[in-house]
This record gives sequence, C-alpha cells and structure tokens, in this order.
Amino acid sequence: MELTETLTSVYLTGLEERYGAHNYHPLPVVLSRGEGVYLWDVEGKRYYDFLSAYSAVNQGHCHPRIINSLIDQAKTLTLTSRAFYNDSLGPYEKYITEFFGYDKMLPMNTGAEGVETALKLCRKWAYSVKGIAESKAKIIVCEGNFHGRTITVISASTDPDAREGFGPYTPGFVVIPYNNIPALAKALEDPDVAGFLVEPIQGEAGVFVPDEGYLSKAYQLCHSKNVLFIADEVQTGLARTGRMLACDHEDIRPDMVILGKALSGGVYPISTVLADDEIMLTIKPGQHGSTFGGNPLAAKIAVTSLQVLKDENLMENAEKMGRIFRAEMKKIQSDMIELVRGKGLLNAIVIKPKNGKEAWDVCLKMAENGVLAKPTHQHIIRFAPPLVISEDQILDAVKRIREAILYFGK
Ligand SMILES: Cc1ncc(COP(=O)(O)O)c(C=O)c1O
Repeated sequence: MELTETLTSVYLTGLEERYGAHNYHPLPVVLSRGEGVYLWDVEGKRYYDFLSAYSAVNQGHCHPRIINSLIDQAKTLTLTSRAFYNDSLGPYEKYITEFFGYDKMLPMNTGAEGVETALKLCRKWAYSVKGIAESKAKIIVCEGNFHGRTITVISASTDPDAREGFGPYTPGFVVIPYNNIPALAKALEDPDVAGFLVEPIQGEAGVFVPDEGYLSKAYQLCHSKNVLFIADEVQTGLARTGRMLACDHEDIRPDMVILGKALSGGVYPISTVLADDEIMLTIKPGQHGSTFGGNPLAAKIAVTSLQVLKDENLMENAEKMGRIFRAEMKKIQSDMIELVRGKGLLNAIVIKPKNGKEAWDVCLKMAENGVLAKPTHQHIIRFAPPLVISEDQILDAVKRIREAILYFGK
C-alpha cells in the first residue's frame, strides 16, 4: 500500500473523530463503494459485507432496480408533505397492505419512529377501544430488547449503555424476561396491559432465537387477555430470517407489525406500521405524523424494495444460505467459538476470549481477510450478509472467517 493511499483512510477517520459526535466506535475501515454483497474501501480493497447496515441492505448494495426507482422519482417529485395528496403514496399503501394482509399502514422514516408510532397506536387503542382508564395503559417489553434510541424507546430498554444518563424515563412499560411464557402470563394478569412489544428474534442483543413455540404461545396468551401483540420486525422482517416476517415461522399474524431498514433496500430511511382498522383508525388527523413520512420518493423505493424481495426469491435464498452458513461455521474447530446460532441469514457466534483476544480482535482480523462484521455486546459477532449472497460467496466468506478465528489458535 502506498503512503498516499494510507493517508486517505487515516485522514477520513480523523475528520470523523475531530468533527463528529463520538456516539459510535466503528471498525477502522473507510468505505466508498458497494455492489451486491461487496463493499470497497477508499484504498480499493474489497470486502464481503456481513452486517448489511444492520439488515437494511437485504437486497444487496445499490440494487439497480431500487436505485432506478430512486433516480426516476427523485427527478419528478420528492416531497409534498401530507398537507396534500401525492400520486405515489396511495399505490404504495395499497401494495404493502395487500402484500402483508393488513387493512392499513402508517408511514414513517426510521425504525425508532415506527416503534414510537406503534406505541402511540397501542395507547390510543387502549383508551378508545379496550377501555383502559386514561394514562393507565401499560405495555409489556422484554429484557435485552432493542427498539431504537428515542427517549420513550430507551425507557423500555434494559441496556445500561442505552439508558444511563438519559432519564427521566417515559413510564408505562413492564419489563419481563425474553422467551419466558410464565412471566408473560403473570404480567398479562394486570387488566391495564394494552400491548406486548417483542422482537421475534432479539437482533441487537446478539441474535437470541427464542424457543420454538414461544411466539405462538405468547400470541395466544395476549389474545386471551385482549392485549395487542406488536412485532418489531425492523431487523428480522423482509426475508432476513428466511420468511417474509420472522413471525411467519410460527404462522402468527401480529396485531401490529413494525417494518424499517430493508423496506428501502438501504437507500433511504423508510419505516411503517401495519395494523387493521380497529387499531389504525384510533388515530385521527393531526394526532400523529411526520414531514417526510409517506413521501413520493419513499413510496416508490419501498414498493420496488418489496418487489425485489419477491422477484429474486430472497426468502428462499436466506433460508438455504443460512443453513449452509451455520453448518460450515459449526465445523470450525476453535475453542474461541462457544456457540453458533441464528435463523436464515441472521446469525451470530458467541466468542470465548482467548489470551486477551476478544470479538473485536476477531472482527479486525476478519476485516483484514476481507469480511466485515461487528461485535455486539462485546462477545457476540453477528453475521448478516445481504440476502443476494450465493453459495460460492458464502463458502469463500466462511473460509476467510475461519482463517481469522484460527489465527488466534485452535
Ligand atoms: C428491532 C429493531 N427495532 C428498531 C430499531 C431502530 O431502527 P432505527 O435505527 O432505524 O431507528 C432497530 C435498529 O437496529 C432494531 O433492530
């Protein structure tokens, strides 16, 4: 590598360090191009992307169809606000509600806003339909959850990093252990409970896959108590786990579904909440909204992103490639790997530190070998490549991952 080349990434990381808030701790790689499963850094080195921008790039980087939708619409009309109708939102609403089988959708931008929207809908429903006394509604959440970064959403979090120093917190949450049906049953005894907000697989917590039957039992329990089952599918949805929604693995239809990330194929922040009329129509004009939510650009991008998932059979590919990935990873003979787990192409390994070397060191070595992934919660490495990955690419990537792990000894 030439000196001028090294200076490029050193210079660019320096700019972020100097002028940007220090709210992230990135791997020291400066990326400038993406295509499909690959990313390139400013020095021209190619990597497999095994993070997919936290599952936002399920359709692969710069998918030509999605980018064309973006460009075509951007040249025509980008934003009107919801003060007026636009010619793209209605067709998008029709498309996505038919796609997932719900009466209505409410468009927002980021995942956290989608979650906030679902929480607000749940509370409105609690007062106007279920009949809970004003300001008494409670929503059950799970330990280890990750639903975003807003004040209300972190009020539901149990992660000290996400919470500490940001109080006072929004009241109205009841925290129970994840994957624990008796705890849910007990919490549901409270008649003021209006909703249960849950990730079908806890992604940020380290890809915790609950026991088979957990979601369907939880769903039945909620229904027996007239409590809304709210699935946060921001990370698990849109084919990531081998089904269009992770809840499809257990054939349940949540009362509300929150989608984000890959709803745009990673080109633009787009989120939405899906629900039926009984819930959705509790919010009236002026009671909720967003300047950018449901704009024509987002509408066109989202429709194409969903079409790509279907047309390219990305559910099936995620299921198949995920099986190969886990099988190959389990063959790696290293006492640094405590566990391999996941569903579809949302997977993780639990790293046992060795001679002071941790998941972070493994990620640095993997990057050197051309695979990008990031530790979550210190000892866990998540592997979530774009769903367009082929078998040859998976096998080549696993070879590079194996070499990185075995570099630290068997
Ligand atoms: C399950 C889940 N919900 C919500 C969010 C928040 O999404 P955003 O970062 O777009 O606000 C995330 C982000 O990782 C997530 O994994």
